[in-house]
Amino acid sequence: MVLDPVETAACCSPLSAQALSMEQAGQVAPLLKALADPVRLRLMSLVASHPGGEVCACDLGGEFDLSQPTISHHLKVLHDAGLVDREKRGVWVYYRARTNALLSLSALIGCPPPQYAGDRSQPVTWTGRRSMIAVTTSDELEEVRQRVRARYAQAANAVTSGGIAACGDSCKDNDGTGTGTGTGSELYGAAEQSEVPENAVSASLGCGNPIAVAGLQPGETVLDLGSGGGIDVLLSARRVGPAGKAYGLDMTGEMLNLARDNAAKAGATNAEFLHGHIESIPLPGESVDVIISNCVINLSGNKAAVFAESFRVLRPGGRFGVSDILAEDHLTAADRAERGSHTGCIAGALSFTEYRDGLTQAGFADISITPTHEVADGMHSAIVRAIKPGPRTARTPS
Ligand SMILES: C[S@@+](CC[C@H](N)C(=O)[O-])C[C@H]1O[C@@H](n2cnc3c(N)ncnc32)[C@H](O)[C@@H]1O
Repeated sequence: MVLDPVETAACCSPLSAQALSMEQAGQVAPLLKALADPVRLRLMSLVASHPGGEVCACDLGGEFDLSQPTISHHLKVLHDAGLVDREKRGVWVYYRARTNALLSLSALIGCPPPQYAGDRSQPVTWTGRRSMIAVTTSDELEEVRQRVRARYAQAANAVTSGGIAACGDSCKDNDGTGTGTGTGSELYGAAEQSEVPENAVSASLGCGNPIAVAGLQPGETVLDLGSGGGIDVLLSARRVGPAGKAYGLDMTGEMLNLARDNAAKAGATNAEFLHGHIESIPLPGESVDVIISNCVINLSGNKAAVFAESFRVLRPGGRFGVSDILAEDHLTAADRAERGSHTGCIAGALSFTEYRDGLTQAGFADISITPTHEVADGMHSAIVRAIKPGPRTARTPS
């Protein structure tokens, strides 16, 4: 591995590395033993650097001139040493690097340990050059998802039974009067509201109106991250027309049912709702022209993966244009948690600098962040725009 001298200096100064204690040495030695094989070292590197945060064993075979049982054996050694977690889904086994193991290894080479900011369900904020790398263990990421899923399943059920969705702190008025925060369905003009079924409006939990700035063109393919009841997908579907396609992606089954019902009522044949995670987008690379999202990325336990996956699925020249909640740079994670909950879209918000850095690290260019309104002291709803560099590629009809 060739290290960039500037990066080496910024991340780990060997002169400042402290000697390991016997306890630390005892923790690191079995990890090094498991890694003392070039195949396992490369496997570990592939798993730890995978943008989705996890990788299917079935996708690793192509990287080696080895049989699948041999790959599986090496992965088992890494798992037994505590370097990776694994999860069986159907016939496939998925692997994810264990944060604690990576921390032990980083201690060996003198990298500063990550500082946990706020509660442990929040992404780890690394000190040093990388201001925002959202690393969580698979357990922590799943725990965040479960809390968020429960909250939005409740919101979807409220709409299905004739009420109005509310998500708490920022996404919508708690009392549903529409007079307070300037969020949810209030953000859409009367004309836009009349374009979609009533339940799509009632389920609206956004903090902005990404469609208003997306500049959608007929024939384009749009992806809405965290599509909820589907309002932005249905509006997009009308703008891209029959030659285009609007995908919604959400992990909450109740929201997907509501969105599909709304699409059927709207007769939107070019809208499709996908079940999945925004940290691991179930679409091929370079298949999307525009990514939109409305008050969702702040909810993710791994925003770095969301940015990397957005970059992957966008075509060169593709646009990223989302509404989200952002914190002023001086607010610590604890300050953000004081102002509202994670599931209410406040505590998990990135700062302006963290957002910009995260997008830059993923490869995005022409990043602009425009605050639109304050939702809590020092916390703003904002429109974030960025471009995937490169000449626009021709679309193949979907
Ligand atoms: C605040 S609501 C916003 C919904 C919609 N964008 C809107 O404007 O009405 C958040 C939505 O994102 C979904 N969501 C949150 N985290 C997600 C994740 N990691 N992967 C997929 N969907 C997620 C939730 O299920 C929920 O439907």
